[in-house]
Amino acid sequence: MTELRQLSSSDLANLHSQLIAEYGNFKARNLKLDMTRGKPAASQLDLANGLSVALTASDYKSDDGADARNYGGLDGLPEMKQIFGEMLSAPAANVVVGGNSSLQIMHDTVVRALLHGVPGGNGPWLSQKPKFLCPVPGYDRHFAVCQHHGIEMINIPMSDEGPELDVILPLVAADASIKGIWCVPKYSNPTGVTYTDRVVEGLAKMPTAAPDFRIFWDNAYVVHDLYDTTSPLANILDACRLADNENRPLVFGSTSKISFAGAGIAAMASSPVNVADARKHLAFQTIGPDKLNQLRHVRFFKNLAGIKLHMQKHSAVIRPKFEAVAAIFEKELGALGVARWTQPRGGYFVSLDTDAGCASRVVNLADEAGVKLTSAGATFPLGKDPDDRNIRIAPTLPPLEQVELAMQVVTLCVKLAAVERLTKS
Ligand SMILES: Cc1ncc(COP(=O)(O)O)c(C=O)c1O
Repeated sequence: MTELRQLSSSDLANLHSQLIAEYGNFKARNLKLDMTRGKPAASQLDLANGLSVALTASDYKSDDGADARNYGGLDGLPEMKQIFGEMLSAPAANVVVGGNSSLQIMHDTVVRALLHGVPGGNGPWLSQKPKFLCPVPGYDRHFAVCQHHGIEMINIPMSDEGPELDVILPLVAADASIKGIWCVPKYSNPTGVTYTDRVVEGLAKMPTAAPDFRIFWDNAYVVHDLYDTTSPLANILDACRLADNENRPLVFGSTSKISFAGAGIAAMASSPVNVADARKHLAFQTIGPDKLNQLRHVRFFKNLAGIKLHMQKHSAVIRPKFEAVAAIFEKELGALGVARWTQPRGGYFVSLDTDAGCASRVVNLADEAGVKLTSAGATFPLGKDPDDRNIRIAPTLPPLEQVELAMQVVTLCVKLAAVERLTKS
């Protein structure tokens, strides 16, 4: 097959008629497929059903003798801090365990900084017209936190090494109102990129005009390998400490896509100073988190090795779905020169880039054919993809046959949108 760009206008017209006929066939099937959100499939959630019987009626004491049923334990059970310490590569003492959502911890961390400032800073961020750097494409809910609280966002292009340091360095060196950057450093949402050592070190070392610059290091996919080998990620906490920027990183993680997305455990790890600051504020927010949920997670997983073993079961469920996406994209689009996509080795997403100006048309066409995709632009601040190019594909939730069918429709819509555009130009 030739690249679509090389086709004559009559060949393009023929191809268009053929694609419209195929599209009509799909429409006639009244499909209802939802590929919008990166949720675990029910069969993945089933893997952790043992959690519900992991505690007996008399099993409610933690290692330090505390009664998990009662108030207290502001920053989590010692054994849960130990597990998150291993998972996030931090000493257990520098971990704060929270409720079920890391997004909530990130949100609250931002709000606390807005209202009270952070250690080493010049007071509340709110009065300093704060800005955040947003690697794009990225996680829509990070950007929504900024948007909701009036924080200006600056797009930073992603390369296959991580966010572009060449763009970041001059910005943070010059502008003291740039207070933070959102990072999903391993199997990034949605590109699947794992930051290289060069990028991790660069972020740790870079001089910033803001004395209170923070890296929001959302390690949501730290143990989410699709294959037997992992993509190694340097330790941001160590890198920042060695660069004399110990308070720069705030590391987040959760078991949402390990145990239950709606009933897991989330945590933050950082420097002793940042942890003490978080604890100080937390004391006003809660008398303590749900420690019974923590205890049953401890009993069920035991340690990081237990979590990694469990994650192999997850990858057995979802790897075929990712491989189906890659195979169908390659077969249907590989030779046409109108799209590029990622083939992640972990995480929850595939990132599809269409020709510029085509992504929203693809999403609309797919929608009309009964396949719901994440809206075009969702992976950019304010929902605006300046090139209208990126589409996030979330293959985990639907059964394999539905993923395959949905990708047939998506690739057809990519071709149709590309032909329409080429015909116009
Ligand atoms: C990068 C990233 N961070 C955080 C979350 C949400 O995590 P939690 O369930 O712990 O709030 C998601 C969910 O999709 C995600 O992709």
